[in-house]
Amino acid sequence: MKLEQQDITLTKLDRNASMPYELLLLADPSKELVDSYLHQSQIFIASKKEEVLGVIVLLPLSDEIIEIKNIAVKPPFQKLGIGSFLIENAIQVATGGEYKSICIGTANSSIGQIYLYQKLGFELSEIKNNFFISNYPDPIYENGIQAKHMLVFTKIL
Ligand code: ACO
Repeated sequence: MKLEQQDITLTKLDRNASMPYELLLLADPSKELVDSYLHQSQIFIASKKEEVLGVIVLLPLSDEIIEIKNIAVKPPFQKLGIGSFLIENAIQVATGGEYKSICIGTANSSIGQIYLYQKLGFELSEIKNNFFISNYPDPIYENGIQAKHMLVFTKIL
């Protein structure tokens, strides 16, 4: 069952607000890395009534490209359409037609995410070989596959 979009509220967080780290760290286990981009980013949360269900963090890379640095949905609420809602709605609010493209990086092992981003119109644009081996201290496995390379997907706006 999908959540109805009208039940979900999208709110832009002030950079001084308390951050939903329990969600942010689901997408990126390194708090140090998360903190390194939060202060330059636009942060949006999806909530239902008072409960925060998801977060998306958008960081401009140049005048033309904006990157989704982090997206996460609370586990019990995953696969109900909130991730798609965040990607589609936050992009509109954050970019306001200013940027030519939006990109997102994910691991070669993140099968569901690779499916989701392509379903929403993103196309594979770059492979950063051995990114996860070089940047994280311990090996990461998902779906029985080692996360080695970062796949970058880009959508033309
Ligand atoms: N495995 C299989 N399918 C998936 C997965 C998954 N992990 N995630 C989403 N999908 C599918 C859904 O089943 C759905 O398919 P359908 O449209 O055919 O029914 C489609 O993708 C859309 O899914 P949503 O419900 O819109 O996505 P969701 O609300 O679950 O959010 C997200 C997706 C953000 C990836 C969520 O699963 C999550 O928080 N995962 C943990 C954190 C994470 O991995 N974040 C991304 C890291 S990369 C980065 O942050 C830049």
